[in-house]
Amino acid sequence: MIMGSGIKAAPSIFAADFYSIGDAVAQIKKSGADGVHYDVMDNHFVPNISFGPKFIGDVASKCGLYGDAHLMIDLSRGIEPYLPLPVELITIHIEAYGDNPLSKPDRMIELLGSIRAAGKNAGISIKPATPADAVVPYLDKIDLVLVMSVEPGFSGQKFMPASLDKIRRIRELIGARQISVQVDGGVSRDNYKSLIGAGADFLVIGSAFFNDADPTGWMRDIHENA
Ligand code: DX5
Ligand code: ZN
Repeated sequence: MIMGSGIKAAPSIFAADFYSIGDAVAQIKKSGADGVHYDVMDNHFVPNISFGPKFIGDVASKCGLYGDAHLMIDLSRGIEPYLPLPVELITIHIEAYGDNPLSKPDRMIELLGSIRAAGKNAGISIKPATPADAVVPYLDKIDLVLVMSVEPGFSGQKFMPASLDKIRRIRELIGARQISVQVDGGVSRDNYKSLIGAGADFLVIGSAFFNDADPTGWMRDIHENA
């Protein structure tokens, strides 16, 4: 279980205005959010580029919240630059090993082991087209499953409702194991309660957080659902 029991929320800093990144971090801290979600994009696994280890190191070392690095990168080049970062969770995509999606569970398990050996929580993520049951080979090696509810690569996309059934199925597969279920993409005031009802216990919120008139009130509502 990540950060103990209860529902957690981490704003995605990728959705902030990078001109005022310090203000965005202060806004996240003030809101009472549990963590900061860092979206790393490499223009190979996803068609966009965000930021890399230096940005995460600079922000995470000073902000003092649970750091959650979501690596949307081709894993065939390794994840070494990310292992020493001052974050508590590193999540990798099971589809992201070279040009052979889903074909390298042994190598994925090695990478998950290296995340835990670095003293961090280890997460796996699945894209919208990847079936829930693809997480099965990893369930005894992870602390979190991240269900992508949009195609990874951009903030501000529309939530895909099929994610709700996927979350339910992943909860069934997890059974009694202490594994968090995180959801990322299009999470909003309109859908967050149904996501928690389906079994998500960790919400990533991008544009909806930074566009909200009262993010502190929203974070309070999320925690009161716990
Ligand atoms: C998309 C990222 C998300 C994104 C979420 O690839 O993984 O974390 O920033 O932004 P919203 O909540 O706007 O979809
Ligand atoms: Zn993300």
